[in-house]
Amino acid sequence: MAVELFNNGKHIVHAFYDLVDDSPGGAVQCNQFLVVDNGHGALIDPGGNMTYTGLLMDMQKYFSSKDLDFILASHPDPDIIASVNKWFVASHCKVMISSLWTRFVPHFTTGKDVSQRIIGIPDQGSVIRLGQCNLLALPAHFMHAEGNFQFYDPVAKILFSGDLGTSLVPHELAAVPVVNFQAHQRYMEGFHKRYIVSRKVCRYWANMVRQLDIEQIVPQHGSRFVGKQAVADFIAWVEGIDCGVDLMTQDNYQIPR
Ligand SMILES: [Fe+2]
Ligand SMILES: [Fe+2]
Repeated sequence: MAVELFNNGKHIVHAFYDLVDDSPGGAVQCNQFLVVDNGHGALIDPGGNMTYTGLLMDMQKYFSSKDLDFILASHPDPDIIASVNKWFVASHCKVMISSLWTRFVPHFTTGKDVSQRIIGIPDQGSVIRLGQCNLLALPAHFMHAEGNFQFYDPVAKILFSGDLGTSLVPHELAAVPVVNFQAHQRYMEGFHKRYIVSRKVCRYWANMVRQLDIEQIVPQHGSRFVGKQAVADFIAWVEGIDCGVDLMTQDNYQIPR
C-alpha cells in the first residue's frame, strides 16, 4: 500500500514499504518511491521484480505507464534497478544513473541496444526536469557505491538518501516515521559500519545537505526522518559515525585458514 509523503494536488510523492516479502528467509525490506508532477512521473530506486506490479498499479492512477519519464537510480544494486528491463518494456522511460554505471545497466536487460535509454549523471550531479519541477541529483559518491547519487525534491522538500539512513526493521515499522532518534540509532548502526564506506565523505555530504531546505529524509530501507529536528539529528549523526574503511584494520585482511 502506498504511503503519501506529499500531495499539493499537482505534485505527489508516494513511498512503498511493503512490496517486498521481508519475512525471515525472504528479501531485505526496501522502499520504493513515485514522484508525480503535473502528470509526469519518475520512480526512484524501483527495485527488483517483486516490486514491479505494485508500483505499476499505483502509478497508473496518475498517468499511463507509457508516460513514465524516468527511473532515477541511486546506484546499481539489485534492490535498486533489477526490474529495469520490465520498465523498459512497459514504458518509454529513461534511466538516470551515475555515468560510472551506465554500461553495467544492460546486464539487467535482454541484450537489445538500450544505450539511448540510459543517461549517465556526471560526478558533479545534475538538475532533472520532471513536469514543471526540477529535481536534483546530489553527489553521494563512496558513501555506499563508487558512483552514488541521492535525489532531492524541492517541492516536497524531501531528500531521498538511498542506502544512507538505512534501518533494518520489519516493513510495519519502516512505514512509520522515526519518533525517538536516540532509540532508533541501534537499528542503523550495524548497517552503516559495514555498508557505508567512509566518515570523510559523510562529512562532505553533511556540509552539502545542510544548505538545502529539507522536511524529510527518506532512506531506501527502513524508517524516514520527518521534521526539521529529526533531519538535523540525522545529519549530525551521519557526520559523526565511524564506518567502513575507518574501522578496518590488518585483522580484517588475513588469509583464511
Ligand atoms: Fe545498495
Ligand atoms: Fe539498498
